[in-house]
Amino acid sequence: MSCLLIKKMASEDKEIFKGLELNQKSLIHLLHRIQAQYGYIPEEVVDDIAERLKITPSEIFGILTFYKAFALEPRGKHLVTICLGTACHVRGGRQIAEEAERRLGIKAGETTADRQFTLETVNCLGCCAIGPVVVVDGVYHSHVSIDQIEKILKKATEKGDEKN
Ligand code: FES
Repeated sequence: MSCLLIKKMASEDKEIFKGLELNQKSLIHLLHRIQAQYGYIPEEVVDDIAERLKITPSEIFGILTFYKAFALEPRGKHLVTICLGTACHVRGGRQIAEEAERRLGIKAGETTADRQFTLETVNCLGCCAIGPVVVVDGVYHSHVSIDQIEKILKKATEKGDEKN
């Protein structure tokens, strides 16, 4: 995103700020709106938000780094989340993550160069009984095995194509 576009977003996008009281209580709501609109929270807008909400930029960065839902880098079109919590780990979660890394050509935490996929790992998704668990664009895949990864990733791109 160009600096000009970011500046425009921060200062002129009335939809982003619509209906919100500009104070600390509205911060998380505002961040969700920005992320929904732009796919991530551009660092360049943090100072602008801080000024508007009369808080410090470090308070905002504190929120951004605490909540995994927020991204400071552009994410791919498809978000792949692989659980490495104990229950999933003992059933092969690590090998599944490595297979996804190998197929996508990136490491966990990275986005493919074509911005199709972002791969992330988490420590528990709260559904340990169905592990190993892989979530793609909000769809949970249970009891996943290594040989299913190719199909799961392919399905994500096919679904994305259907939407277009
Ligand atoms: S450890 Fe994977 S869902 Fe809990």
